[in-house]
Amino acid sequence: MSKFNRTLVTAALPYANGPKHIGHIAGAYLPADIYVRFLRNIGKEVIFICGSDEHGTAIPIQATKEGTTSQAIIDRYHDLLKLNFEQLGIQFDIYHRTSSQLHHETAQEIFKEMYDKGLFTEEVSEQYFDEQANTFLADRYIKGTCPNCAYNNAYGDQCEKCGKTLSPKELINPLSTLSGNSPILKETKHWYLPLQDYEPWLKEWLVEGHKNDWKSTVYGQSKSWIDGGLTPRAMTRDLDWGVKVPLPNAEGKVMYVWFDAPIGYISATKALFKELAENKIEYAYPQHTTLKNVKAEDWKTWWQQEDTRLLHFIGKDNIVFHCIIFPAMLKGTNKFILPDNVPANEFLNLEGDKMSTSRKWSVEMADYLEDFAGKEDVLRYVLTAIAPETKDSDFSWKDFQTRNNSELVAILGNFINRVAVLTQKFYDGDKVPFPKKTSPKEIDLMAELERCKTAIETNIENFKFREALAEYMNIARAGNKYLADNEPWKTVKTNQDLTDTVMYHSLQLAAHLARWMEPFMPFTAQKLYAILNFEKANYKKNNFEQLIAGHAIGQTVYLFSNIEDEIIAKQIDKLQATKLKMTENIQIENTVTPSEIDLKPTITFDDFAKIDLRVGTILEAEKVEKADKLLKLKVDLGFEQRTIVSGIAMYFSPESLIGKQVCVLANLVPRKIKGIESNGMLLLAENADGSLKLMQPEEFASSGSKIA
Ligand code: 2FM
Ligand code: ZN
Repeated sequence: MSKFNRTLVTAALPYANGPKHIGHIAGAYLPADIYVRFLRNIGKEVIFICGSDEHGTAIPIQATKEGTTSQAIIDRYHDLLKLNFEQLGIQFDIYHRTSSQLHHETAQEIFKEMYDKGLFTEEVSEQYFDEQANTFLADRYIKGTCPNCAYNNAYGDQCEKCGKTLSPKELINPLSTLSGNSPILKETKHWYLPLQDYEPWLKEWLVEGHKNDWKSTVYGQSKSWIDGGLTPRAMTRDLDWGVKVPLPNAEGKVMYVWFDAPIGYISATKALFKELAENKIEYAYPQHTTLKNVKAEDWKTWWQQEDTRLLHFIGKDNIVFHCIIFPAMLKGTNKFILPDNVPANEFLNLEGDKMSTSRKWSVEMADYLEDFAGKEDVLRYVLTAIAPETKDSDFSWKDFQTRNNSELVAILGNFINRVAVLTQKFYDGDKVPFPKKTSPKEIDLMAELERCKTAIETNIENFKFREALAEYMNIARAGNKYLADNEPWKTVKTNQDLTDTVMYHSLQLAAHLARWMEPFMPFTAQKLYAILNFEKANYKKNNFEQLIAGHAIGQTVYLFSNIEDEIIAKQIDKLQATKLKMTENIQIENTVTPSEIDLKPTITFDDFAKIDLRVGTILEAEKVEKADKLLKLKVDLGFEQRTIVSGIAMYFSPESLIGKQVCVLANLVPRKIKGIESNGMLLLAENADGSLKLMQPEEFASSGSKIA
């Protein structure tokens, strides 16, 4: 017996800073929706919570980009996301938003409670401040040169070129994106969640407690975070967009977006119950929910009673927040349940490349819904069939076409169509016939149906939606085989009894297909119910017979239609155009300017032979006082150590150079630079944008090795 009596399903609250692509859908929303529909169908009590994540620096940044306000951005994208989810049949019980007053109050209440319980530590640290804009700078508002790859447009939290995670202080020559000025360092106070205090508990609850029931990818990522050592994490920010910190002397401070966003699940649940109790439908969809006669305070049953099963559906980039940080917050407050499972998916790539809205390498949900109106279920089907459940997977337009034409049309659609058309032809227009004598073929068919149904259930319960869908299609395959083996279109002339038996069994199979189709393809399931003139509510769980003899079926329509080559070619062309643009950009970035083409006058080999180039290893590096561009290096040449002063401080931080192998011009006349004698020179490559790259041996070479 399960200890749970109800299930609370959440899907990651998407940032309302732009449209979402099909990778997001495959990652969190579609599997969550399938799971919830499955539970609703078997009569379990479940609610499905989501909403827009409307805080964080991504919102004001998008507003600046679009020349508008943060409020306008969240309003626009909240509406778009809500609509797109509905269009795709993602049936939340509520789609709330974190800009709502209820959410702000809820997040502030929890923050205050944690503060009062002494669950935060206060730390003063130095952070970049833009004097002109009179504001502290969030990581994304600072740009500078990446210490790792010398890219000169890296953000304060990450270099988009080499992918390295950075902190603003690591950037070389940081600049504020607000004013373009160099920011100053200024002290500021923040509230931290001392994650290290939760380590013993996390080891017990997560590392030991969820070793066997969480996906290995989710468990592995969480465990390695814990094993890597937990440190305090700031839960507040200096920003004017977000939930205000509810403490005195906290002017200008808001909550870190990852503190308030998961609380959004709680506030959305509160809103759902409030709206259900008041019979309002601003954000909630009372028609989806299994709940009746609720009171506003019933939200507590769902968040505070141990017999509620809490499940977070997310993408893998959200694992740490849902498996470690949010649970630590819940544990700290000591009045909420913890997630029982976090079935995170990996990433979905597009035609072999990482999906990205900003790089325009994506299939946006809104674009798909416009280009393929009426084919929402095809996308649901394909995304489930290729779901990145255990590793990253790939969406390609050709595969999309093949799955539609060769699976949905040729297997599932074909079976239903044959059954419906033959029934209308043979039986007085539309009546289900009486079955006559059965044979082992019917026994086999029923056994296969039972096997598939059990496999679908087990797989969905274990979050293996791909497998579940494959088993679903096996029911249609069994149906096609049954028809092909019995050929009722031939026997109708010679053996009416056999024909009746075959058609009766085929029709029952069609009814089961409608019922089990619903979680995967809800729109098509409605069509199939209409074809059969049957209703979900009349499905008898333990019966093979769903349509009694004499039952009149409805009108036949095609469930699916082929997708032609030119439709797919259009989508591929769109991506090709993006690829071409990307390649052009890379070429422009990589091209040397005409002035760099100017070669110096030719020299003789003897001239070249005078140059002594050696491999060196940098042992020490420090900034030269009062010289922004200079670094003083100690370089090991194997036979001796040299001091070399180099003008690379704008491109490399001293720490990033320690231990690096470099190429050194070793017989340059010594020079005094800023009072320091420099004995040699590092070789560097200069990019068109002026950024520098160290010249290094491709593999390790001993210090002092000759370069020739
Ligand atoms: O990654 C994201 O899109 C986040 N907005 C997810 C937040 S999930 C939850 F915590 F709200
Ligand atoms: Zn970089």
